Amino acid sequence: MPDIIAVLDFGSQYTQVIARRIREADVLSRIYPYNTKVKILKENGVKGIILSGGPSSVLLADSPRPDEAIFKLGIPVLGICYGEQLIAHMLGGKVAKSARREFGHGNLSIRKKGKLFTGLPKVLRVWNSHGDRLEKLPWGFEAVASTENSPYATIQDSKRNFYGIQFHPEVAHSEMGMEVLANFLFKICKCKAEWSMANYIEESIAQIRNSVGKKRVILGLSGGVDSSVAAALIHLAIGRQLTCVFVDNGLLRLNEREQVEKLYGDHFDLDLRVAKKSSLFLSRLKGVYDPEKKRKIIGNTFVEVFEQEVKKLKKKGDYAFLAQGTLYPDVIESVSIDGNPAALIKSHHNVGGLPKKMKLELLEPLRELFKDEVRELGSELGLPKEVVWRQPFPGPGLGVRVMGPIVKKDLDVLRKADAILQEEMISAGLYYKVWQSFCVFLPVKTVGVMGDERTYENVVALRIVESIDAMTADWARVPYEVIRTISSRIINEVNGCNRVVLDISSKPPSTIEWE
Ligand code: XMP
Repeated sequence: MPDIIAVLDFGSQYTQVIARRIREADVLSRIYPYNTKVKILKENGVKGIILSGGPSSVLLADSPRPDEAIFKLGIPVLGICYGEQLIAHMLGGKVAKSARREFGHGNLSIRKKGKLFTGLPKVLRVWNSHGDRLEKLPWGFEAVASTENSPYATIQDSKRNFYGIQFHPEVAHSEMGMEVLANFLFKICKCKAEWSMANYIEESIAQIRNSVGKKRVILGLSGGVDSSVAAALIHLAIGRQLTCVFVDNGLLRLNEREQVEKLYGDHFDLDLRVAKKSSLFLSRLKGVYDPEKKRKIIGNTFVEVFEQEVKKLKKKGDYAFLAQGTLYPDVIESVSIDGNPAALIKSHHNVGGLPKKMKLELLEPLRELFKDEVRELGSELGLPKEVVWRQPFPGPGLGVRVMGPIVKKDLDVLRKADAILQEEMISAGLYYKVWQSFCVFLPVKTVGVMGDERTYENVVALRIVESIDAMTADWARVPYEVIRTISSRIINEVNGCNRVVLDISSKPPSTIEWE
């Protein structure tokens, strides 16, 4: 069993980031509710405890507190931000409202030797985000570092191995934050760097088996990265107790359904049900112009179809769980679940919603992971690169890439053009470098000439963008030679399209999708 660090969650937006940084250092981290009893931490053999930040103030009587016995366990404790104030407050120091909130960058001056800063420079640029500040040290503590606004930006009691830091070492804005955490893990807690994604798989398998027992699980497989990795992981744990439902809504890319059937049904030997509902979706979308209306129709029809499939399955077997590939970034936007004291930022379509009506319990084995970790996990589970590194594809699929009312004939033109674009992007080594590359079908006919014939056909636009998180994007500077090949292949090989145009708009003010 690798060494474990317990992160007690006081509701910081960064709790999962702390856990992730620890995993990056190849140490196992587990997030526990803030009030977890010491008995449980002891049973789990944790080697150190981190108290996360949080939105509350220790000055409030009902603010969240850890089990006081953590200070008697004899293992190191590191408090970050609210966590530092907890240590000070609970061990006899004094915390007060600061006249000035300290938010953003600050300069941390390290004044005394301390294990947390072993091997680090004397001044570090760090990220702060707090209102209260420490005014008096608790007994046995000394101040190690200060910022412009906090004389006690880092405190320590090196005899008992208690440490408190006011800044956030886990965020990328804190210079050498990773090194500070690593010093806690290796110099103070004496952890060994033995954890890997393979351990994560082992542990998840045990957890999934333990919660599912002999019951059955349903998962909506979209073919995207998250649901694919969740399916592969759960399948490894419980085999054919897992049933995946794939809905063919008629708005998929060329041969997409066949690829899913081949990979999951044949290769992974997954119990895969395909709901072929193309005509239902297309009939409901008939004549609909408005993009938001299209989204609503596609979304509602999906829920309806999925519910029918669940009903059918429940008649046949003891299905008790709905699995979802929810990731941490989905969760952070919907916190306040599980008694997490973090303030609700916004609700997310991937979290909650579906299961209540279907009377299924949620199973979310990826909810502590970040996207890049999910990709690593997917590779470890043997999913092919095309799945693990696939570009994002919107839920409403090609429904928002055929402008205006959707007709099957136009979808077919779009599918063929899009397949050529992807093929050429892959062969030019660009598919995995850009954020998204896709075609858009325009309901505009233009005149062309092919051989001696006049043609009057539709226009296809190429949308190829670079982005980090889809919030902003820029059109990718794909070499003209590659654009030329794509354009000429589409016009020559796809009946129904005689003109290709290139979208050179950035986001903002344009969006990535056209609808
Ligand atoms: P926009 O067009 O808003 O897209 O710049 C940002 C990212 O979100 C994807 N997208 C969607 N994904 N349902 C989804 O699941 C949708 O309705 C939807 N609309 C846009 C888009 O592909 C891009 O990655």
